[in-house]
Amino acid sequence: MKGTLVTVLGAAALARAGSITTSEPAVAAIDAAMATTLPEASSSDVKGVAFNRFYQVWLENVDYDLAAKDSNMQWLASQGILLTNYYGTTHPSEPNYCAAAGGDNFGMDNDNFHQIPANVSTVADLLDTKSISWAEYQEAMPYPGFQGYNYSNQVTYADDYVRKHNPLVLYESITNNDTRARQIKNFTQFDSDLANKKLPQWAFITPNMTNDAHDTNITFGAKWERSWISTLLKNSYFMDNTLVLLTFDEDDTYPKGNRVFSVLLGGVIPDNLKGTKDDTFYTHYSSIASVSANWGLPSLGRWDCGANLFEIVANKTGYANYDVDTTNLRMNETYPGPLSIGEYSKFSPIWPIPNTDAKCSAGHGVLDIVKKTYANTTPTYNYTSPYPWDSKANYNTKVTATRMSKSTNTTSSGATGSTTPANAGVAGVVPSSAIAIGSLVALFAYIF
Ligand SMILES: *[C@@H]1O[C@H](CO)[C@@H](O)[C@H](O)[C@H]1NC(C)=O
Ligand SMILES: *[C@@H]1O[C@H](CO)[C@@H](O)[C@H](O)[C@H]1NC(C)=O
Ligand SMILES: *[C@@H]1O[C@H](CO)[C@@H](O)[C@H](O)[C@H]1NC(C)=O
Ligand SMILES: *[C@@H]1O[C@H](CO)[C@@H](O)[C@H](O)[C@H]1NC(C)=O
Ligand SMILES: *[C@@H]1O[C@H](CO)[C@@H](O)[C@H](O)[C@H]1NC(C)=O
Ligand SMILES: *[C@@H]1O[C@H](CO)[C@@H](O)[C@H](O)[C@H]1NC(C)=O
Ligand SMILES: *[C@@H]1O[C@H](CO)[C@@H](O)[C@H](O)[C@H]1NC(C)=O
Ligand SMILES: *[C@@H]1O[C@H](CO)[C@@H](O)[C@H](O)[C@H]1NC(C)=O
Ligand SMILES: *[C@@H]1O[C@H](CO)[C@@H](O)[C@H](O)[C@H]1NC(C)=O
Ligand SMILES: *[C@@H]1O[C@H](CO)[C@@H](O)[C@H](O)[C@H]1NC(C)=O
Repeated sequence: MKGTLVTVLGAAALARAGSITTSEPAVAAIDAAMATTLPEASSSDVKGVAFNRFYQVWLENVDYDLAAKDSNMQWLASQGILLTNYYGTTHPSEPNYCAAAGGDNFGMDNDNFHQIPANVSTVADLLDTKSISWAEYQEAMPYPGFQGYNYSNQVTYADDYVRKHNPLVLYESITNNDTRARQIKNFTQFDSDLANKKLPQWAFITPNMTNDAHDTNITFGAKWERSWISTLLKNSYFMDNTLVLLTFDEDDTYPKGNRVFSVLLGGVIPDNLKGTKDDTFYTHYSSIASVSANWGLPSLGRWDCGANLFEIVANKTGYANYDVDTTNLRMNETYPGPLSIGEYSKFSPIWPIPNTDAKCSAGHGVLDIVKKTYANTTPTYNYTSPYPWDSKANYNTKVTATRMSKSTNTTSSGATGSTTPANAGVAGVVPSSAIAIGSLVALFAYIF
């Protein structure tokens, strides 16, 4: 099905991602597949420590301060907890979506057509270890599992669905499996899964290029988001035991450093925390880490390994997050990798090796297939860090982090809701002074 619809690029092209271009499948072929490709819907009810369902909705390209001024964004924050210290991983869009699924952006610094090799695992593999149902809902995607570069409005040809905003479709570990690919669906199927009470426990929601503010602005996007979520807030089938993350892929003014306005809401947020703020440092990797800790799942052994957990999960698991000093943090660029074209990072042909034996933030170790695939190798980076860094590329080497004391929820800070870390006196993270185990591997990796 898929191979005939998209000009699939050979392995040789993957060696130099920068040269990848793609031809669009013919509209007639898309129409034919639309008529015959059935969506895959599975539901499950695996209990987690903090939530039984986790959905994230991503808008596009808005600076934190501009989002904070929007009245609909303010309303959304009033319904939940505002995360004031949450970061995208780099620029432009696609590497951020990629990161939210695979725990790394692989040096990607572009919005090109990418296919990440099947030996790279994703959050879907973690969820599958406990048969926790998952799906994506991509507005205006023509049919389940569509792999084309875009599907535009067929009347105006304005941008509508775009592959670069679709995390799981980038991974061959998803697209090589027809059942998995058909769990990537559109908003029509969200409506029917909701009506049929067949919603999955994990989902990634991407509005089209109009609604997500990409081709409009924050006024439009926030209004859309408020109207979308406010109906659901009243739906107990959807909201009971549910955590929803509303965030942005990246900010708009690159030198500002990529902090994005993010809100956690849903049935699991206690009333006394609605309208409060949480200043804990988070990144897109935190959503994978929090999902793992919530359901007791292993880690991908990549940047999800050391990522801070959403407080609602950290509190329930007794996990101590890191307080990260963001003064020298640069989340607006990234380290070298195989998906770079030399824009905000450098090209390196080597796929980064994950950590296979760390405990990782959830404390449940690393996924078995990752351990098997990368047995007897040395991790490329120090993935136990709460923020990405790379000594060889001198990337984020001046950032420091300190473990907070374990959360004790007896002395709730109440209405302020902010986490002022009490440093536990545990040795701080000072990567610049440490000789990373990964350095030698990294050295090798950067031979062009
Ligand atoms: C994973 O796949 C890529 C692309 O085929 C390959 O270059 C790499 O060597 C593989 N890694 C391992 C550990 O098998
Ligand atoms: C969603 O996908 C179905 C095919 O599964 C298609 O018939 C429908 O037109 C799509 N809806 C939208 C709004 O793109
Ligand atoms: C994808 O976008 C291009 C450029 O805007 C457009 O010409 C093409 O028709 C689109 N393809 C589909 C399948 O919508
Ligand atoms: C995006 O979706 C909305 C419906 O949610 C629709 O009104 C709008 O026309 C779509 N944008 C494009 C460019 O097709
Ligand atoms: C494809 O994915 C489904 C659902 O995750 C799984 O049950 C099945 O074993 C996979 N098939 C192969 C060949 O990996
Ligand atoms: C967004 O665009 C609309 C329509 O052009 C405009 O009225 C509004 O002021 C814009 N919002 C911002 C924050 O610029
Ligand atoms: C990232 O931010 C730093 C600090 O503001 C700035 O010097 C640098 O140019 C930015 N990089 C990009 C790619 O915007
Ligand atoms: C406090 O933590 C315990 C477990 O550590 C948990 O059962 C309880 O629900 C938490 N209370 C609040 C108010 O978060
Ligand atoms: C790796 O990161 C962790 C957490 O940031 C830190 O405690 C450790 O010292 C680092 N290890 C190396 C070798 O840099
Ligand atoms: C987590 O525990 C801290 C410390 O007691 C408390 O201030 C905060 O409100 C709790 N957060 C959540 C989301 O439960």
